[in-house]
Amino acid sequence: MNRKVKVWDLAVRLGHWTMGALVLGAFLTAEDDDTVPLHTRLGLALLGIVVFRLVWGFVGSSQARFKSFVRSPREVLAYAKEYVRGRPGAHLGHNPLGGVMVVALLGTLLVITLTGIITFLGPEWDGPLSGVLGKSGAHAVKEVHEGAAGLLLGLIGFHVAGVLLSSFLEKQNLVAGMVTGRKHVPPDGEPPKEPSLGARVGGFIAAAGLGAAVVLLVLRLFPMGEAEAATAQTQLIDLYQQEARAQDPGHAADPARGKALYFAQHDKGGEKTSCTTCHTEDPRAQGRSPAGKRIDPLAPSANPERLTDRKKADRWFDRNCKQVMGRLCTPGEKADLAAWLLTL
Ligand code: HEC
Repeated sequence: MNRKVKVWDLAVRLGHWTMGALVLGAFLTAEDDDTVPLHTRLGLALLGIVVFRLVWGFVGSSQARFKSFVRSPREVLAYAKEYVRGRPGAHLGHNPLGGVMVVALLGTLLVITLTGIITFLGPEWDGPLSGVLGKSGAHAVKEVHEGAAGLLLGLIGFHVAGVLLSSFLEKQNLVAGMVTGRKHVPPDGEPPKEPSLGARVGGFIAAAGLGAAVVLLVLRLFPMGEAEAATAQTQLIDLYQQEARAQDPGHAADPARGKALYFAQHDKGGEKTSCTTCHTEDPRAQGRSPAGKRIDPLAPSANPERLTDRKKADRWFDRNCKQVMGRLCTPGEKADLAAWLLTL
């Protein structure tokens, strides 16, 4: 067993380690609200790579293909018996148990990423699936997402243990093999027959294209930034609303009151001033400060970032209300104003 040959092509190796890094990142960003936007993006990238790897499993180099390592249950069982005895037979690419693991890992990743996308479109955001799913459906999908993530963690544990044990039994470093692409091969083994260069390039373009197409389709169907902004804006109004209720339990955000506040004229040193002075009669339009500085539109429909950042919104509400009305706006007024701006 001293012959080393190239078994893992670059796409398999890069795909493998990228998936590992993305999974690690996704686990680290899953819990905290602040990191959820990053979590969803890592998840989407993961979906793209999983799709790529699935397609590559049909069109890639010989050892990348599912048909080279997916074995019948009987063969898997026979191999498992050899394995338990500590004398597993040599295999060029994945051994039969490794093949089972590849399919289990990819399948679990597919379930996790797809349920992740559906969860992202859950009831918090009025997305295309909210009506279809309902609250209990969305909840169930989230349970599957989390359950599958737990399963993935277990599978990764077995995967790493299996690789280490096989490295020991086969007296070769399989982790390094996934970096260099080279493995010791059975002395009697045939070198792999590779598809032609043209077929591999074409296959790569097809696999990468499909992976990218899936990612772009998701982004196009549900623009992530907009969905997140919409959630943040509703949350901000809820927050002001809650603060207002602490003083006036009957308060409900009222866009009409918000609109009246926006247009109300106040006397300031003999000059009339209102929110329109800078933000214009139409908050969807670009505004201008008295000093002539350009102000981006205030209405979220024209400027999706508006009212998404609590600190920023508060700072400007305070400053501008003082400037126009000579006092701070109450939480109830902020809720009204924000509610009106969101109707535009
Ligand atoms: C003197 C000019 C001026 C007036 C008058 C004014 N604003 Fe502003 N406002 C600004 C500027 C400048 C910004 C920040 C520009 C930016 O972020 O692009 C801003 C930003 C805001 C924001 C921040 C939104 C966000 O989340 O980014 C809110 C809310 C706001 N204004 C509300 C009001 C309200 C309500 C009034 C009327 C009571 C008002 N403004 C009157 C100049 C003004």
